[in-house]
Order: sequence, then C-alpha cells, then structure tokens
Amino acid sequence: MKVHVTDLEGNTKEIEGTIGWTLMEVIRDGGVSIKAECGGACACATCHVYVADDWMDQTGERTEEEEDMIDLALDVQDGSRLACQIELTEALDGLKVTLARDAVL
Ligand code: FES
Repeated sequence: MKVHVTDLEGNTKEIEGTIGWTLMEVIRDGGVSIKAECGGACACATCHVYVADDWMDQTGERTEEEEDMIDLALDVQDGSRLACQIELTEALDGLKVTLARDAVL
C-alpha cells in the first residue's frame, strides 16, 4: 500500500505503507521528517496532519483522547488528525495527508 505525504513546502512524497502500522510510523520510517515527540502515545500534537477531504470518511472519527490533543494544535481544520492514531488498513491504500506546522516546526 502507498500513502502520499505533502510537506509544508508543498512537496509530495509517496511512501510505502505497512498495514497494521500507524500513519505516523510509516511517515517517519519513510524518511519524511515528523516530530512525533511522544512516540505515538497520543500525548502531544506533533504528529498533526491534515487528511485530504476525499479520505476523511475512510480514516474515521477522532477519538476523545485525540480530540483533547487536537485542541492544543495549531491551525486546526476539519481534516486534522494525529497521525499516530490512524492505523493503516487496506482501505487506506492511496491515502493523502499534508503535514501541519506542529509536526514540523
Ligand atoms: Fe504524540 Fe502522535 S506522536 S500524539
């Protein structure tokens, strides 16, 4: 499976994803810089990404825990998610996300 990750400069990289891994792990291992300070524990907002509009149904709803962290994030949008809270499945093949400022700066 593949995921497409766009950075703050607008450069998009296609990354090979692994089903069962989180989006954050795949981005990190795919060589795109993502802060992810808490290592995937849903305890920061530095893996903040924007899910593309046409992928929001497939990625589902934020959990309550995730919502609390998103409240602390910058530039929150409808598609805002924490990449460590999205587990990759077959249905997410081709997923498109953009890194948020929290994840990079
Ligand atoms: Fe900290 Fe995702 S890495 S919330």
